[in-house]
Amino acid sequence: MTRAVLESFGGAESGRFREVAQSLVKHLHAFVSEVKLTEEEWFEGINFLTRTGHITDDKRQEFILLSDVLGVSMLVVGLNHRHVEGATDSGEGVEVVRGDGSLPTGSTEATVFGPFFVEGAPAFENGDDISGGAPGEPCFVSGRVLNAGGEPIPGARVDVWQADEEGFYDVQYDDLEGARGRGRLRTDEEGRYSFWSVKPEPYPIPYDGPVGDLLRAAGRSPMRPAHVHFMVQAPGYATLITHVFAEGDEHLDTDAVFGVKETLIAPFVRHDAGAAPDGRETKGPFYTMEYDLVLAPAGE
Ligand code: BEZ
Ligand code: FE
Repeated sequence: MTRAVLESFGGAESGRFREVAQSLVKHLHAFVSEVKLTEEEWFEGINFLTRTGHITDDKRQEFILLSDVLGVSMLVVGLNHRHVEGATDSGEGVEVVRGDGSLPTGSTEATVFGPFFVEGAPAFENGDDISGGAPGEPCFVSGRVLNAGGEPIPGARVDVWQADEEGFYDVQYDDLEGARGRGRLRTDEEGRYSFWSVKPEPYPIPYDGPVGDLLRAAGRSPMRPAHVHFMVQAPGYATLITHVFAEGDEHLDTDAVFGVKETLIAPFVRHDAGAAPDGRETKGPFYTMEYDLVLAPAGE
């Protein structure tokens, strides 16, 4: 049986299509045989995929969420993003600020894109407040965009987006007009970026659909640790899509989508009211988070 199905793809015009389709058939058949799938289970699977399709529309992509919770998205990210070692690795004295500073250097690791990026977010100047009045404690985020040699990349486009204190992105509020907790920046001549926002909090991925049912059946948490999303683009460099996660978050080891990497964890440091790094005098306590983003050269 399996051989017959494999052979039925043998005449495909595209070699890559043939390879992918035949491998998919091979592994699917092996899976069905291994677990001795019953007809009821087969139908349950069909129903699950049907519900996944029915709940998917322009705003909600349950298939990507399914890929995320199965670890497939992170596997694809890992296979497609080269890690470029940095000059800093050989102790040449370029300091890259990440977490406690003792982490490996080189290009910043990538992680999942997620469903909450919005094309056309407002542009801001460095140092601006992108929170748009989102609830939460003030947080000053800053860092540099560098190449793997530790040199600054001026004029890099930095898109940021994050959840607020309630664990919601702006797009999850029904009654909200305009952006909140998202924006677009450009690095300055020294490759620096900075913005004020609110301290992000952990939140659950959407779990009111079939993916939520899957997590419940597995006894798994839908939570993601607190993080800020970054997408960084500059001519001649590979686009970096990543997050920086809050050090100490209780969900770091159980991220619902397996997106956490050790090198992407950084402290969000609490300060009493007073002078912030940009010279601003704050009326109340605030947080700072500093993280340098290192881009790999564009691929062939
Ligand atoms: C996010 O971080 O925004 C996200 C990523 C994957 C699934 C759901 C949310
Ligand atoms: Fe997120």
